[in-house]
Amino acid sequence: MNIQENISLKSYNTFGIDVKARFFIEINGLAQLQKVLELEAYPKKFIISGGSNMLLTKDIDALVMHINLKGITVVEEDEDEVVVKAMAGENWHELVLWSLDNGYGGLENLSLIPGNTGTAPIQNIGAYGVELKDVFVSCSAMEIESGNLIAFDAKDCEFGYRDSIFKNDAKDKYIITSVNLKLTKKNHDLNTGYGAIEGELKQKGIVYPTIQDVSNAVIAIRQSKLPDPKELGNSGSFFKNPVISKKNLEKLKKVHPNIPSYSMDKDQFKVPAGWLIEQCGFKGKRYGDAGVHEKQALVLVNYGNATGGEILELAQLIHQEVDSKFKIRIHPEVNIIK
Ligand code: EPU
Repeated sequence: MNIQENISLKSYNTFGIDVKARFFIEINGLAQLQKVLELEAYPKKFIISGGSNMLLTKDIDALVMHINLKGITVVEEDEDEVVVKAMAGENWHELVLWSLDNGYGGLENLSLIPGNTGTAPIQNIGAYGVELKDVFVSCSAMEIESGNLIAFDAKDCEFGYRDSIFKNDAKDKYIITSVNLKLTKKNHDLNTGYGAIEGELKQKGIVYPTIQDVSNAVIAIRQSKLPDPKELGNSGSFFKNPVISKKNLEKLKKVHPNIPSYSMDKDQFKVPAGWLIEQCGFKGKRYGDAGVHEKQALVLVNYGNATGGEILELAQLIHQEVDSKFKIRIHPEVNIIK
């Protein structure tokens, strides 16, 4: 077993934070994963996959297992639909491109989301009106304690907005090894209602979009305001959009008449955290190598050598300012490793 020591994790997390793993191993197969979990010499274990939703604030004094399980297969198929099984280590966007190449619909709105397939269910990734849960059938996860593979269907996963059982009761207990998704082969259910997509298609003169057109539109929108982690370290939206009551929203509107909001149900409203942060004056601000992206205030960035602690300090400052200006507490979407 090739266990390495004192390995930098800078290239394994999209924030590009340079912390070290005391021990490190690449996981390439399920049997190997089971064996590694049994290793008593390394009682502390830490899982890293695409590293796109974590902020590392210190060296990891554990055996870091990099999930590199690969493979995409069709496991069920009829005339209309197909169930695709993707192993956890498959890059998410590569999977989206593979589905488009095969003419399968369902993932186009989720184009260009950083990270790997195995972590997609943990936070129920979502963008432009679609969430993973809309195409999710099940996932397979290895129980860390026993090494047993357990199947979770959509109901078991308890999906919510950027939330699932893997962030709650099942946190740190399982390693997701593969995900099954149901995609359409024809009569694709296109989701272009999200403002920016419609505008992008219109601008290109596309009236009857294909799944490829929708994907291209999403890619163009994302590239216009979200930084590419390969060029500028980041973890996508750092905070979740807060959900507030109607009463609270009405109170806020008296002082901030322009506050944007999206109704969730008759009493609950989502407020874009990016707007709240921008109103506090943080958009485009830089503190050493930690900063707030100039085009999307919800995204914190690492200009090169920021430490996780510096990014965290900035996040805490933003949290405080938003709370004092709007009396709204915003919570990180990113998993902070302290
Ligand atoms: N806004 C501002 N200033 C900003 C950013 C946003 O005023 O700097 C306001 C604008 O009013 C804008 C609204 O916020 O119309 C919404 O902005 P945007 O469409 O960029 O979406 P978001 O709510 O900021 C969410 C997701 C993104 C996802 C987009 C598109 C969360 C936490 N984030 O962002 O997901 O790509 O919608 O669907 O729900 C991610 O999770 O990493 C991520 C990038």
